[in-house]
Amino acid sequence: MKLIYEKSQAGRRGLAVPKPDLPVPALPPELARKEPPKLPEMAEPEVMRHFTELSRRNFGIDNGFYPLGSCTMKYNPRVNERLVGIPGFRNLHPLAEAEQIQGALELEWGLQQILQAVTGLPAVSLQPAAGSQGELTGLLLFRAYFDDKGEGAQRTHVVIPDTAHGTNPASVTMAGYQVTAVKTDARGNIDLDDLRGKVNEHTAGLMVTNPSTLGLFDENIEAIRDIFHAAGALMYYDGANLNAVCGISRPGDMGFDVVHINLHKTFSQPHGGGGPGGGPIAVRETLAPYLPVPVVVKDGEGFRLEFDLPKSIGKVRGYSGPFGVFVRSYAFMRSWGPELREMSEVAVLNANYILARLRDAYDLPYDRLCMHESVLSARNLKRDHGITASDVAKRLMDYDFHPPTVYFPLVVPEALMIEPTETEPKERLDAFCDAMLKIAAEAGTDPDTIRAAPHGRPVGRLDEVRAAKEPVVRFVRPE
Ligand SMILES: Cc1ncc(COP(=O)(O)O)c(C=O)c1O
Repeated sequence: MKLIYEKSQAGRRGLAVPKPDLPVPALPPELARKEPPKLPEMAEPEVMRHFTELSRRNFGIDNGFYPLGSCTMKYNPRVNERLVGIPGFRNLHPLAEAEQIQGALELEWGLQQILQAVTGLPAVSLQPAAGSQGELTGLLLFRAYFDDKGEGAQRTHVVIPDTAHGTNPASVTMAGYQVTAVKTDARGNIDLDDLRGKVNEHTAGLMVTNPSTLGLFDENIEAIRDIFHAAGALMYYDGANLNAVCGISRPGDMGFDVVHINLHKTFSQPHGGGGPGGGPIAVRETLAPYLPVPVVVKDGEGFRLEFDLPKSIGKVRGYSGPFGVFVRSYAFMRSWGPELREMSEVAVLNANYILARLRDAYDLPYDRLCMHESVLSARNLKRDHGITASDVAKRLMDYDFHPPTVYFPLVVPEALMIEPTETEPKERLDAFCDAMLKIAAEAGTDPDTIRAAPHGRPVGRLDEVRAAKEPVVRFVRPE
């Protein structure tokens, strides 16, 4: 297709705008096929059966309980899909003029407003495409802020607890900082003594999720804030666990300066396997000038994209953001409305119900009420019967449950991290707990059946060592 430049909003940004009414030119002859492609001849019902059969091998939240801790695999209400398919949303062109897409911009602006209210921070960028990209973006804001203050060269380290999700140290490194790890204490909080010895004039900030990946709310969060703010450092809140605290506590009130929100975890949206997702960030006034562009602004009665932020770190992705994700999350938030707090309360209640039912059969590393997820350990089963967390996970598949997250966080040996979310009914939670209790009993009576699990699945146990050492990262056509 021929692309022409227009003196339009998109054109001003140096982007080529396709003109829909131009004829599509013919393919150059040297690129055209000389003979028809060799496609297999199949009856249509056979093709349909093949793909239906493949889809049945998938396990998703739509066909079972999916208690993957830290990943918040929550139900995506069907109304979301109806809304995202509205032609005016589905057919949006990313380079359309603002006056043609007022409804879409209003939705984005509304989403920014709700995120400000939920986080307690006054400015939002919808740009980052995932939590991890939000982390990187937030840290680039740290950098821009300290460069502006003339402290960029001095502030070289970011503190991260030893329970952190792997993306945290990765983002810190990508942003050009060095990681300072801080220990977890016996109650599952950040160890304050260790922390005090590690924060100094070289510290750019803290990156932490609260509740932590142990499913525990840090009881000393105000003391932690005081340590960082006294050192002139910033606080980054990894919002992956926001499902625990919506409407109850706000990162801004806890003293955080930047937050990312995993829209695809807290505010519905199917996700997994790397996408699709949305990781907007919310920031304090001091960091607002550095936000990536564009930001959606309200102008009188209308809305527009603001590109003119002279101190902005620039763009962190191609267009304005993952619009379909915005529609689903906005619809989800509006359907809860002021009752959003109940969502988190029920998520926390469900997680504690599971914890209460399983605590005598599995090890409990930190004996406290949990938040939206609990971390148990199979180390008692390993010690007594040689059954590992991985064995428990595989056996759960025989009972038609997706395994929880295992071996994370790293500070808990044989970790089983269970996150039910708010949408699961008590009957489903009970069925899951029954299966977990049965497996703990089987560990004593029939450990070999557990070790050979899963049974009767399309794929059995994979050679995980070989998969890690010799990964096949491209599609190989079967013989
Ligand atoms: C605690 C925590 N932080 C960050 C991330 C990264 O988020 P994303 O998968 O959206 O990049 C995750 C994802 O699982 C997480 O659990």
